[in-house]
Amino acid sequence: MTRYGHNSSLCFYYLFLASLLFCYPIPMALSELSSTQKTTMINISNSLNSSVPWNINTQPNPCLWKGVVCQPPTNSSVIQISLSKSSLSSSDFLPIVCQIESLQSLDVSENHLTTIPSGFVKGCGNIHGLNLLNFSFNNLEGSLPNFVGFAVLESLDLSHNKLSGSIGLELDGLVGLRNLNLSFNHFNGSVPTHLGKSMVLQKLELSANTFQGTIPDKIVDYRNLTLIDLSSNNLSGSVPDRIGELSKLEVLILSSNNLIGIIPESLSNIKSLTRFAANSNSFRGPVPAGITKYLKNLDLSYNKLDGSIPAELLSTSNSNLQTVDLSYNMLQGSIPTIRSQSLVRLRLGSNELVGAIPSATLQSLMYLEMDNNKLTGSIPPELGSCRNLALLNLAYNRLTGALPVALGHLSNLQV
Ligand SMILES: *[C@@H]1O[C@H](CO)[C@@H](O)[C@H](O)[C@H]1NC(C)=O
Ligand SMILES: *[C@@H]1O[C@H](CO)[C@@H](O)[C@H](O)[C@H]1NC(C)=O
Ligand SMILES: *[C@@H]1O[C@H](CO)[C@@H](O)[C@H](O)[C@H]1NC(C)=O
Ligand SMILES: *[C@@H]1O[C@H](CO)[C@@H](O)[C@H](O)[C@H]1NC(C)=O
Ligand SMILES: *[C@@H]1O[C@H](CO)[C@@H](O)[C@H](O)[C@H]1NC(C)=O
Ligand SMILES: *[C@@H]1O[C@H](CO)[C@@H](O)[C@H](O)[C@H]1NC(C)=O
Ligand SMILES: *[C@@H]1O[C@H](CO)[C@@H](O)[C@H](O)[C@H]1NC(C)=O
Ligand SMILES: *[C@@H]1O[C@H](CO)[C@@H](O)[C@H](O)[C@H]1NC(C)=O
Repeated sequence: MTRYGHNSSLCFYYLFLASLLFCYPIPMALSELSSTQKTTMINISNSLNSSVPWNINTQPNPCLWKGVVCQPPTNSSVIQISLSKSSLSSSDFLPIVCQIESLQSLDVSENHLTTIPSGFVKGCGNIHGLNLLNFSFNNLEGSLPNFVGFAVLESLDLSHNKLSGSIGLELDGLVGLRNLNLSFNHFNGSVPTHLGKSMVLQKLELSANTFQGTIPDKIVDYRNLTLIDLSSNNLSGSVPDRIGELSKLEVLILSSNNLIGIIPESLSNIKSLTRFAANSNSFRGPVPAGITKYLKNLDLSYNKLDGSIPAELLSTSNSNLQTVDLSYNMLQGSIPTIRSQSLVRLRLGSNELVGAIPSATLQSLMYLEMDNNKLTGSIPPELGSCRNLALLNLAYNRLTGALPVALGHLSNLQV
């Protein structure tokens, strides 16, 4: 105790001496940005739109400028720059940013930039620690730049731009690439398969482009994929059965393409898969029996699926199953028993289903649609015990009998 007290009073003594010597408090001395980086930051601020509040005269420490983060604890180098939503239309500042050798993250999303200058790709490719680049929501045009260097780049977000052309080897040098987002652009040609030689890719977002051809088998070589979104493209052919080998897959979205063939049964084996959407294609054949074993959300609507709904589909022991949409297909037979208590939304409308509506009390169910089928018999009174029901659509069937009084107990019903 005495020793501690002695040390700390000594410490205060030195602090006092130091502040006398330098005429300002110690923390300021530690927080000084290196003079080279300070000059570079001033140079960047001079090439930015006046709408960016970076001003060396009003705030002499660039580490305190809006969107700038310096390396703690000393703050002697810049590690993050965010110039999101800054009305930028000139890309002139970008090559200067690459002089910040300590930069780890650059976010220039939500501006009006039209180009990524070659000086940027060249300069920033040499920055050793750069792991995130966000150019989303700009007006970038032309083809994808060839990324050379960028040894540890993990996330590249070029989504919501006007980039076009096909993709070959431009991204293959990105050996650390984990998250790639090229969605909402005008890319064409086939789905790119050279996405970092070391194959560590985890999230692949390519939706809303005009990619065409088949889903390449090679995509399955990226063993660490957790998310694949290929929706709203012009893809044709069938889904490779090997896709079931992606044992870490969590989200698979194939919606709004021209895909044909069957829904691969192998998808039922992926324990981590929580969301699978393949709606608005031309898939045929049956709904795979075990497909809801692990899923939370399933959407197979607007296809040409036929056969009957597998008996266990809606009564699996999976307590995460929340939404199932099989509407607008050609499904036949009767509706199987429904026991999945976690179900929030069930859509079976516009099929060719026959038989009676199964009686079930489902406490979480909010949306139930079985309209436009050939269902017969009367409405089961148990539906009146699904107390969270907000929408119930049984229109255009062959139902008979009286409306159960119990439906009057549905206090949340809106439609
Ligand atoms: C470094 O910057 C952060 C955030 O601006 C600030 O909270 C911290 O006190 C600074 N550290 C030093 C040693 O100045
Ligand atoms: C800053 O800009 C000046 C003048 O444009 C230039 O001479 C200097 O090399 C630049 N310095 C840095 C560190 O970017
Ligand atoms: C600055 O913003 C204005 C208004 O958004 C824009 O017209 C101008 O082109 C911008 N200038 C630069 C250098 O980005
Ligand atoms: C890029 O910025 C957008 C908009 O600010 C944001 O929604 C998105 O999550 C960011 N991307 C990454 C990879 O951080
Ligand atoms: C692009 O995709 C990445 C990876 O999935 C994601 O983190 C990011 O938020 C997406 N960007 C936008 C603008 O949604
Ligand atoms: C892709 O689009 C470019 C124009 O952006 C066009 O020249 C090229 O022929 C297209 N390629 C394919 C395979 O459609
Ligand atoms: C996948 O991730 C693991 C663990 O993060 C890593 O060791 C491996 O190298 C990655 N790549 C492949 C292709 O499995
Ligand atoms: C979609 O692909 C087909 C060939 O599979 C082609 O004929 C058609 O022009 C493509 N549509 C668009 C919008 O690129």
